[in-house]
Amino acid sequence: MSSRAPLSIGVLVSGRGTNLQAILDGCEDGSVPAEVKVVVSNREGVKALDRAAARGVPAIAVPHQSFGKWPACKPLYEKKIVEILKDHGVQLLVLAGYDRLVGDDILQAFPSGIINIHPSLLPSFPGLRAQADALEYGVKVAGATVFFVDPSMDGGPIIAQEAVTVNEDDTVMSLSAKILKVEHRVLTRSVTLIATGRVKIEGRRVRILPQ
Ligand code: GRF
Repeated sequence: MSSRAPLSIGVLVSGRGTNLQAILDGCEDGSVPAEVKVVVSNREGVKALDRAAARGVPAIAVPHQSFGKWPACKPLYEKKIVEILKDHGVQLLVLAGYDRLVGDDILQAFPSGIINIHPSLLPSFPGLRAQADALEYGVKVAGATVFFVDPSMDGGPIIAQEAVTVNEDDTVMSLSAKILKVEHRVLTRSVTLIATGRVKIEGRRVRILPQ
């Protein structure tokens, strides 16, 4: 058993929140040595906020539109997000289905402290249509990646990946469902590795230290 204090996490979301749920469940059952301090969504009324509230976690909507036109409003919007995350003592920021590209203000507030989950085996198929792109390309193996966020889109150092087999009859829906299952596992495992001090960034490579 580790005597470390649980890692304080903030989660940025935009929608359904199944990855958030996996983290909340892991924190609750003790398999993830962390605590979700706050969940922030750039969209109001989304399921992810309900999931946080159901666990008694502060769930805050900060609609980016209320700061003006995107992307001109990004600095103002991000300053507000950073203020909320800092107020809640967040050490690690997890992007879990967050549909904006993170900008300078958030990046600078959490250097090497932001991770994202993506539904492909990066660097293949970055962007918002990962599963459809994988199917259209005809790959036989797809999967999920957790990586440290940097200014690029889906291009930061990779922490963990897990593969799934693409079957002949897979559709975007069936492949997405298959990948989502492994996303939950890869994301909670990555948070656990970080929370237990086992992750070391060496340039583009992330070294997983022995227990
Ligand atoms: C996931 O597929 C994640 O990889 C992508 O957006 C989706 C979010 O799903 N970035 P959920 O909101 O966690 O259910």
